[in-house]
Amino acid sequence: MKTLLAVLLIALLPTLSFAAEHGADLESVDIDVSDKAALQEGAQTFVNYCMGCHSARFQRYERVADDLGITHDRMLEKLAPAGAKIGDHMTIGMQPADAKNWFGAVPPDLTLVARVRGTDWLYGYLRAFYEDPTRPWGVNNRISPNVAMPNVLEGLQGRQRLGCREAQRLDGGEKHTDPTLSHEACDQLVIVPGTGALTEAQFDDKVKNLVTFLAYSANPDKLQHQRIGTYVLLYLAVLFILAYLLKREFWKDIH
Ligand code: HEC
Repeated sequence: MKTLLAVLLIALLPTLSFAAEHGADLESVDIDVSDKAALQEGAQTFVNYCMGCHSARFQRYERVADDLGITHDRMLEKLAPAGAKIGDHMTIGMQPADAKNWFGAVPPDLTLVARVRGTDWLYGYLRAFYEDPTRPWGVNNRISPNVAMPNVLEGLQGRQRLGCREAQRLDGGEKHTDPTLSHEACDQLVIVPGTGALTEAQFDDKVKNLVTFLAYSANPDKLQHQRIGTYVLLYLAVLFILAYLLKREFWKDIH
């Protein structure tokens, strides 16, 4: 029993330390990998904004198209790079040596990143870039300090800085001082108004869809499992009705 407990504790340790490390900063995000619209938008964002540097090399365009309900023609026309074939893996042309030269770090393959980091971490990370002139790209990251990745979504999000959240919030035209905000709230991530193409809510939604795609990508069979699960339940329901009718038929003459 003692050994069993010890084994369990050791098995849980990585989860515990991980939770402790990031727990304070991370917002939890509700990801639904069966949401086709979210997945499709996320795939588009991934191709447009991430595949310049990151591959998803365990994933094929064909599988993604089939799983997400995108036709092969549309996949090749709108999502895959020119010249790609439908059966190709989602690889990129950038050479690791060049990447190392340019960024000082090689952008990792992202097929399984949602499994390694978790969806809350990814959702937090992609929204946590802020201006920091001491860094090579002029940005740092709250969740992954001194990361070598530039803020590729800045055009959508706008310029984000560390500062004080508006201490007064507008409420039905009247200004109220928010008592929950004190001076300690002055190292908050704040977006400079009007610098991004999207509102904060729209941006959060876009990132959520992107993370949904990454979650699917790390576990594509989950979609299939859900589909099979539905069929199994339907099958059992039909079987139940038939068995019930059969039982009634058998017992009819006995009563
Ligand atoms: C201009 C190149 C570039 C683009 C475009 C880019 N990244 Fe990165 N990314 C990097 C580099 C370089 C790193 C490695 C950073 C490091 O190790 O410090 C990185 C690291 C990451 C990591 C951290 C992985 C880990 O486990 O620490 C994630 C997650 C990530 N990128 C996601 C994305 C997503 C999602 C997009 C698209 C919205 C994207 N990146 C677009 C260059 C890029």
